[in-house]
Amino acid sequence: MSNLPPDMDPIASLERAVASAAGEVAAASSIDDLEKVESSLLGKDSSVGQIRRSMGGLDAELKPKVGAMLNETVTRINEVLTTRRAELGAVEEELRLREESIDVTLEAVRFPNGALNLVQQTIDEIVDIFVGLGYQVADGPEAELAWYSFDALNTPSTHPSRWEQDTLYLDWGDPGDEVNLRPHTSSVQARWMEIHDPPVHIVVPGRCYRKDTIDATHLPVFYQIEGLVVDQDIKFSDLKGTLLHFAREFFGPESEVRLRPHFFPFTEPSAELDVSCFNCDGGEPGCRVCKGGGWLELLGCGMVDPFVLETAGYDPSQISGFAFGMGPERVAMARHGIDSLRHFIENDIRFLRQF
Ligand code: DAH
Repeated sequence: MSNLPPDMDPIASLERAVASAAGEVAAASSIDDLEKVESSLLGKDSSVGQIRRSMGGLDAELKPKVGAMLNETVTRINEVLTTRRAELGAVEEELRLREESIDVTLEAVRFPNGALNLVQQTIDEIVDIFVGLGYQVADGPEAELAWYSFDALNTPSTHPSRWEQDTLYLDWGDPGDEVNLRPHTSSVQARWMEIHDPPVHIVVPGRCYRKDTIDATHLPVFYQIEGLVVDQDIKFSDLKGTLLHFAREFFGPESEVRLRPHFFPFTEPSAELDVSCFNCDGGEPGCRVCKGGGWLELLGCGMVDPFVLETAGYDPSQISGFAFGMGPERVAMARHGIDSLRHFIENDIRFLRQF
């Protein structure tokens, strides 16, 4: 217990404390500030604190009055403090939110998305159709021995496709050992059969090369997908049924196919396969896709020549097979009504973005 300083009138002090509290509290500009103001108003050394401590020493007559006044003072000061604390709290919260806020209206940084080229998309789609039938995907070298590109495929050394005007050579070597840039993926037929026994069900997507000048229908570097099936009792109807299935998967369930006799050294009989025009469904004079013919040329195919089977070490009296080869660029052109192979190599973004 302590006594008040002799010159201190408790009632007047408490009145002054209440009177000045509102101004001091209002002047606090942060919660931290407000805590300091609170301790100067109600703390141990404040007039309120001194009076509280001295209560025991007051005259009995003064005590209840000062006591009541003290409570009243503390209550009123606490009220202003509480109100100001709420105000400052709201201001500080607002400030914090503003600092931490994210401007969702800001333009995002966009990274351009790449996409597969239409040729690759077409290859993937075609290969998927055959994988769905149980075919395996096979691969072979692009720099190829003439043996696999030609001899093993029943293409004699005198065949014009072997001439330099058609095929690109890397090395002359001995006959059959010349190294060429493969002109078709049919070479993988011979490579596969050399090391696998029947049954064979493969598709071979890959890059091919020919000595052609770039124009709307020729590229010196292009793609092919070769197909080969060899097993017991494989018939021409299996070839036709398989390719009809492919055509309907790729061009739509209404598609029809037709075979036209043709010649390839490695198949006998050989044929070219056309698919009915998916755009006009059979020869509208002005059709932009088939130009009115009603059919789109799709691929070459045939029954594997017995010579090819024999060269691979298979017995053509026991087994037979069919093969086909198609150009995915041409297939994509047929499907999308693209008028020139040049589009595939020009890298014009306006073309590429359409697919
Ligand atoms: N290799 C042929 C070409 O490049 C395409 C081809 C035709 C492949 C008939 C075959 C086939 O397997 O049976 O034109």
